[in-house]
Amino acid sequence: MESPFKGDILKGKVGLLTGGGSGIGYEIAAELGKHGASIAIMGRRKHVLDSAVSALQSLGIHAIGIEGDVRKREDAARVIETTITQFGKLDILVNAAAGNFLVPAENLSPNGFRTVIDIDAIGTFTMCHEALIYLKKGGTIINISATLHYTATWYQIHVSAAKAAVDSLTRSLALEWGTDYGIRVNGIAPGPIDDTAGVTKLLPDDVKRKSREASALYRMGKKWDIAMAALYLASDAGNFVNGTTLVVDGGIWLSNPRHMSKEAVKQVSKEAEKRSRNAPVGVAKSNL
Ligand code: COA
Repeated sequence: MESPFKGDILKGKVGLLTGGGSGIGYEIAAELGKHGASIAIMGRRKHVLDSAVSALQSLGIHAIGIEGDVRKREDAARVIETTITQFGKLDILVNAAAGNFLVPAENLSPNGFRTVIDIDAIGTFTMCHEALIYLKKGGTIINISATLHYTATWYQIHVSAAKAAVDSLTRSLALEWGTDYGIRVNGIAPGPIDDTAGVTKLLPDDVKRKSREASALYRMGKKWDIAMAALYLASDAGNFVNGTTLVVDGGIWLSNPRHMSKEAVKQVSKEAEKRSRNAPVGVAKSNL
């Protein structure tokens, strides 16, 4: 799909994306690159990084891939240093690396819980912390979150807890680093997005169909939808946005089954009004 943004809105900028080799992270990398940014992507798997870098370069994007695991502080530091060596600065840090699997809470080991907290929450903090020295010169951070923890989500206790922590650190860093250094820190909370590990791994087809039926906008999201939100937040368009997590899910997280048809509600409502008008004086309306 064609971007509604001008092609040079990120000209001269440098973006580093964790988890940038695939899924939503890759799509954001590609769109930041198509809009002028040079791109470094970080990931654990060399073959995934290599093919992502080739794809980015074939789009005319100045791109490099750097192996590393966000759970290791030394990897975070090395990846950021390599980005600076290659491109001279860092303007946009996108924390998109995430771990996930479906598991009932009673079957999840404490180490399984910790693994996802380590990747999503501590990994995000570590990357932000290591990048601060460079971002102080004029940078912004985007943390990829989720909507799982807004209510509660079956078999996702670990990810819900991790993303709740991510949202909290987005706000705390926005406050501290926004005030002290002018660094804007925001998040994006995607809903179910087609063709991502999150959906293929975690949403069986029948659940996907139900999500479609319950969705306010009646469709699954596309990676492009998330990339456009990232462009908005990373560019000057988002200059006054700090500390927010933008939900990009077509309103799905608000969805719940319709308990009454529109016709039935009109009827019930009319009857309730009629009863209220005809009630004897002195009977409190709340008792009707
Ligand atoms: N169900 C239950 N527990 C699981 C699990 C699953 N499907 N997958 C991992 N775990 C547990 C392991 O049992 C282990 O705990 P234990 O030591 O008590 O047994 C712990 O998590 C660590 O597992 P391990 O396989 O050593 O971790 P890892 O670092 O190699 O990989 C992930 C863990 C989460 C990163 C892995 O699932 C992964 O690589 N995911 C790809 C990223 C992804 O799916 N992203 C989607 C984003 S929505």
